[in-house]
Amino acid sequence: MAHKKIVVLVSGGGTNLQALIDAQGRGELGGGEITCVISSKAGVFALERAEKANISTRVIARKDYPDTAAYSAAMLDAFREEQADLIVQAGFMTILDETICRAYPNQMMNVHPALIPSFCGKGYYGLHVHEAALKKGVKVTGATVHFVTEICDGGPIILQKAVAIEQGDTPEILQKRVMEQAEWHILPEAVRLFCEDKLSVKDDIVSIAQ
Ligand code: GAR
Repeated sequence: MAHKKIVVLVSGGGTNLQALIDAQGRGELGGGEITCVISSKAGVFALERAEKANISTRVIARKDYPDTAAYSAAMLDAFREEQADLIVQAGFMTILDETICRAYPNQMMNVHPALIPSFCGKGYYGLHVHEAALKKGVKVTGATVHFVTEICDGGPIILQKAVAIEQGDTPEILQKRVMEQAEWHILPEAVRLFCEDKLSVKDDIVSIAQ
């Protein structure tokens, strides 16, 4: 089994990145190795987490580029320089254009804090997702890991996990529960399955080999 190089994209606190680093430390990433962390913003805590784990970092700041196309081109150059086998969006809050998912078909995954197709797509990111779930009054939410395609949050679903909503939840409380009970488990698990070559996609449906 070839050793896979994983590039992780972040924009903020990086708790999902930490879950990946911890899983790698326990030997639970299927032999994959996080070789680079790229942030869309300077100064975020996710970069400190990477440095502490001796992982190389880059900042490719969205604000330094005039549009999505120019930003995506810079990202693509970085992925090629890093010889990425897998790109993981772990709390990455910036939209990339279709050149990226065409260059890395079924090789880029994203964790989304809801059960797709609920509460997803443009404008649904971070706390907004949990605000929308509470506003709708759903009793169950959760998280989804999916492959990235041209459709925002619309790519093939790899793993999902449900989380109960409780009386008195605020968006912040719910976000924390969804992270603890779902995201931090299914993201490393999806990466492990990828690195063990257990994921295949046909007609937009992901199959997982036993
Ligand atoms: C996570 O809940 C992640 O699912 C969400 O932002 C948070 C980032 O936390 N991502 C999105 O909403 C992407 N559309 P983290 O920086 O601590 O991993």
